[in-house]
Amino acid sequence: MKNERKFDTLCVHAGEGPDPQHGAHATPIYQTSTFVFKDAEQAAARFAGKEQGYIYMRVAPHTPTHAAFVEKITALEGAETGLPFASGMAAITAVALAQLKKGDHLISSDVVYGSTYSLFAKVLTKFGVEVSFVNLADLERVKACIQPNTKMIFAETPANPTLTVCDIAELAKMAREIGALSVVDNTFATPYFQRALPLGTDVVVHSSTKYIGGHGDLLGGVVVGGADFVKRMKPIVHTTGGIMAPLEAWLCIRGLKTLHLRMERHASNAMAVAQFLEAHPRIEWVRYPMLPSHPQHAIAQKQMSGFGGMISFGVRGGLEAGRKLMNRVELCSLAVSLGTVDTLIQHPASMTHATVPREVRRKIGITDDMVRLSVGVEDVADIIADLEQALAW
Ligand SMILES: Cc1ncc(COP(=O)(O)O)c(C=O)c1O
Repeated sequence: MKNERKFDTLCVHAGEGPDPQHGAHATPIYQTSTFVFKDAEQAAARFAGKEQGYIYMRVAPHTPTHAAFVEKITALEGAETGLPFASGMAAITAVALAQLKKGDHLISSDVVYGSTYSLFAKVLTKFGVEVSFVNLADLERVKACIQPNTKMIFAETPANPTLTVCDIAELAKMAREIGALSVVDNTFATPYFQRALPLGTDVVVHSSTKYIGGHGDLLGGVVVGGADFVKRMKPIVHTTGGIMAPLEAWLCIRGLKTLHLRMERHASNAMAVAQFLEAHPRIEWVRYPMLPSHPQHAIAQKQMSGFGGMISFGVRGGLEAGRKLMNRVELCSLAVSLGTVDTLIQHPASMTHATVPREVRRKIGITDDMVRLSVGVEDVADIIADLEQALAW
């Protein structure tokens, strides 16, 4: 019965119930580094993995607060289990360290968040991992890039900041055929709009800093997938220690309770803003997966049930005009990050993707004129009015 509950009910209830000790209605924050064992035999059994239970906060399942968050996101993504991290980057790093070794080959979306690009291009390569950045929307090009040592295909879809969409089921199939791990960064869509695991993907990662938290007040990440891969990740987690703090786990639980409500509003607001921008004479181009003008609109429609709150666009007059817009907004905040209840505006080429070399940015479509908008859940008329006044020069 529990697993048959609908998504919205799982957002509110999964992983939670009255605290067995005191009956607390809200999941308590277990702010403790360590746990006391009943006796030396129990301690030895926990360390040997013969008895389930808590040991020390760095060691999974960390604390009951972490366990509740993992159970909730696992239910929403349709996963077997998962692990919480200090940030989205810590989560992606742990997946890469668990899966790849010297001499292995990684295929990644050419458009990924700037620090993910740097992790793959500058850090993993230092340890002898080969990396190919490919437009994963072009399956023929992906096929041509496969090597005998390809061990992981990493897809960010929709991608930050171009909103490029790739075919999750086809990439998972390709990875399975060659014995590689398929990974999807689902930060932009969230499980409310896109579930990659039922489409065949092995592992889903999130920056829970974004829509999962939803309020711009935490830093976190999470990995979900099959029990075997998560088990393989544990030694990496335990030795590198980049785990989530208990308060952040609690904030993620609280954020997920309203994920379904927030995502509906983010998406309907974003569609209205995208249409407003597309019709505006000062706007050169708009990228939003729901617009028929989006190059992978058909794939997005096939695998997503909605299109989220992220939009990118170019202002006529290039970077200078974009800067002017960003300096003139009043309601929107000029800030990086995304997925918060309020609307954020930023310039990828000089901010979130500044670490990606300029020639690479140009090649993959992160143009200097690109402005990225994370549309919030305010009244959409106020968001549009703010953009309208900011564009009136
Ligand atoms: C798609 C995507 N993945 C991962 C990350 C990294 O997350 P964090 O900042 O929580 O480390 C980000 C951050 O913006 C992101 O946009």
